[in-house]
Amino acid sequence: MSNSTQHLYGTPAPQPTSTDTHPSDPSSAPSNIHLTSHNQYKTPRLLPSHLSPNPLIQFNQWLASALSPAEGTPLVKEPEAMTLSTSLSHGIPSSRIVLLKTVDSRGFIFFTNYNSRKSRELSANPYASLAFYWREISRSVRVVGRVEKVSREESVEYFRTRPRGSQIGAWASEQSTEVGEETLEERVEKTEKRWEGTEVECPEHWGGWRVLPFEVEFWSGQPSRLHDRFRYTRPEGSDGEWTVKRLSP
Ligand SMILES: Cc1cc2nc3c(=O)[nH]c(=O)nc-3n(C[C@H](O)[C@H](O)[C@H](O)COP(=O)(O)O)c2cc1C
Repeated sequence: MSNSTQHLYGTPAPQPTSTDTHPSDPSSAPSNIHLTSHNQYKTPRLLPSHLSPNPLIQFNQWLASALSPAEGTPLVKEPEAMTLSTSLSHGIPSSRIVLLKTVDSRGFIFFTNYNSRKSRELSANPYASLAFYWREISRSVRVVGRVEKVSREESVEYFRTRPRGSQIGAWASEQSTEVGEETLEERVEKTEKRWEGTEVECPEHWGGWRVLPFEVEFWSGQPSRLHDRFRYTRPEGSDGEWTVKRLSP
């Protein structure tokens, strides 16, 4: 695996295990939940001498060790799941989880519907923030950057690796719009018929976004909340050296 590019194509989709039930009285108030645990985080210290001068290489090292940990270190479940925050130009943010698919020499790539809420927000205000939390190894990474769409070729190449059901879903689902259950099923059926016996093409409204970072922070949990934090910054659009500063926890 190269340090500069990490592909996560073909990660198996998690299966639903939910046994959620609905409260019998829909008007009943939710009961308060108080979280009083005081987890003590303990991971090896993160020191400046451990850090690569390039945060994308540093990220790939952390991701590689989360995906294939050294003996005695826990495996991180779905380390590619990340919170993506976007906002319209008026500044009200919105967040959701997406899957990181590639880290190349320029940035972090995920795929989605270009008409979805997140894509509409990114088109209006091309900045995003990402946050990863790897509970099993007490590590977190956050990223702030400008976004761009990946090339059509990259989207098509990735789309071809997706399971057929997900390819059908990309045509059938008008992501982020209101829909009735039956309408969605009908649309899936219609889409399956449309592509019967042939390869499903990548829709024009579906593809990748690349987040080009100008700020990346690595966080390593330590006891008594005295965590190690290092922030890389460089001016937006620059391809020069990164400045690295230690931050107070
Ligand atoms: C673990 C997980 C992974 C997800 N991965 C993606 C993804 O890679 N792309 C995507 O469009 N939505 C993904 N989703 C669904 C999004 O969280 C979200 O529901 C959807 O993209 C619509 O968001 P929007 O209406 O804000 O655009 C994922 C959800 C979860 C829980």
